[in-house]
Amino acid sequence: MYKTLTTSLQEGILEITINRPDKMNALNTEVMQELALAIDEVYFNDAVKSAIVTGAGSKAFIAGADISEFLSLSPEQGAVLSRRGHAVFKRIEDCPKPIAAAVNGFALGGGCELAMACHFRVASNNAKFGQPEVNLGIIPGYGGTQRLVELIGKGKALELMMTADMIGADEALQWGLVNHVTPPEELLEKTRSLLRKIHTKAPLAIARVIKCVNAHFKYASKGYEAEIVEFAECFATEDLTEGATAFIEKRTANFKGR
Ligand code: COA
Repeated sequence: MYKTLTTSLQEGILEITINRPDKMNALNTEVMQELALAIDEVYFNDAVKSAIVTGAGSKAFIAGADISEFLSLSPEQGAVLSRRGHAVFKRIEDCPKPIAAAVNGFALGGGCELAMACHFRVASNNAKFGQPEVNLGIIPGYGGTQRLVELIGKGKALELMMTADMIGADEALQWGLVNHVTPPEELLEKTRSLLRKIHTKAPLAIARVIKCVNAHFKYASKGYEAEIVEFAECFATEDLTEGATAFIEKRTANFKGR
């Protein structure tokens, strides 16, 4: 049914695997559309009690939004891209059933943002996290400027977003970005075991916990809007063209600040 992801339902857990391993599971337009449909399944299929989002292959969870789609975008189209991403990730965050990220490798840019939109994160010990958008002349556009601050605090979030550094799973655990770290072969079972435990609790109470915890962050709505505006403005800059071209040509970008 899906082209860019696979799903399987076992013990009430819908496992959603982003499946573009040759492109590090990068989130292109089609993946985002199919992810939205898979999340609908979590909302509306009564047989689904919870979900796991993970990536295909052993290298990447998701290495970000698909950079090859950036070069042709106007600022208006950039805003649409960002707004659509926000809508899908907010639906994950607001889902009344728990959705966990099983982070099995690189979680960069939109991949880190998707993991952060999930209710909690379990990482394999080879996972790497980062928001490297400034390497490309852009900023996080799928909620990362807000959710990273919520999870790890302002200082560490600013450092990560401004240096474009990657952190490993143990540092991510120490910083509060992930809840648990496991060997790769135990990642899915650990994530499933947490969800199985939640399945034994009262579903309506779980939904209310999610709703109330999210209500705590409602003040951030202006921040999300600011992110869409600033992300879109990046598409009017020469630096974005240089950054995305440099990535595709596998060279270091030479930014001019224009
Ligand atoms: N968008 C589009 N394509 C991507 C991608 C992305 N975000 N991330 C990786 N790919 C593609 C590469 O272009 C490459 O394609 P090719 O084989 O056709 O050349 C393929 O996935 C494998 O990636 P490669 O860079 O060769 O693997 P690596 O092991 O040397 O490096 C990463 C892995 C994740 C460190 C590196 O791919 C990377 O930095 N990706 C971009 C991360 C990023 O900036 N994300 C934020 C986007 S907003």
